[in-house]
Amino acid sequence: MVKPLLIKAVELARKGKALDIGAANGYDSLFLACKGFNVTAVEKDEYLSKEISDMNLEKIHVFNQNISSFNFEKYTLINCCFVLHFLKNKTRGIIKKIQQSTAKDGVNVIITFLNEGEFNNKHEGLLKPNELKEMYSDWEMIVYAEKFVQTKEKNKDGSVKEQKAAFLLAKKSN
Ligand SMILES: C[S@@+](CC[C@H](N)C(=O)[O-])C[C@H]1O[C@@H](n2cnc3c(N)ncnc32)[C@H](O)[C@@H]1O
Repeated sequence: MVKPLLIKAVELARKGKALDIGAANGYDSLFLACKGFNVTAVEKDEYLSKEISDMNLEKIHVFNQNISSFNFEKYTLINCCFVLHFLKNKTRGIIKKIQQSTAKDGVNVIITFLNEGEFNNKHEGLLKPNELKEMYSDWEMIVYAEKFVQTKEKNKDGSVKEQKAAFLLAKKSN
């Protein structure tokens, strides 16, 4: 299912260059390309990057690379969903890089786990509740929500781990 935040984001953003961070098999990238964006998909997993490249689409440029060493350009839309928890102490720096690399009137979509829930410190550097919102205090906030979601990880008793996540869609209006 296409993420509702991404559907809203493409309505708001000027068609131009979009960056999809941690693109996995390119599901979001493909949606953005179909909506008229020239997409740069950055994915550090070689197998997944190849899945995107194999689609052979002119509108999607794939970089099999760690986002920490990626050379950002300017984008009208940046999508970064369920990736920041892998970045540990680099998380906040990457968010700043995302903000700086967004063109005026461009939009950011970020969905990320926060440091509340059953991960129990498994992932370092998770943002605190409201921290992401504060980092976007000088942007136009279109959507901001925090709620517990089911993760792909399991507890010892087999139950699915739940973790608080932040959902953000913001526009760079200054
Ligand atoms: C949980 S998946 C999320 C995929 C997709 N963004 C989505 O919302 O469905 C996280 C993806 O980010 C990639 N990833 C993790 N750390 C990364 C990094 N430092 N640089 C680039 N990609 C990364 C993983 O390989 C994986 O494909």
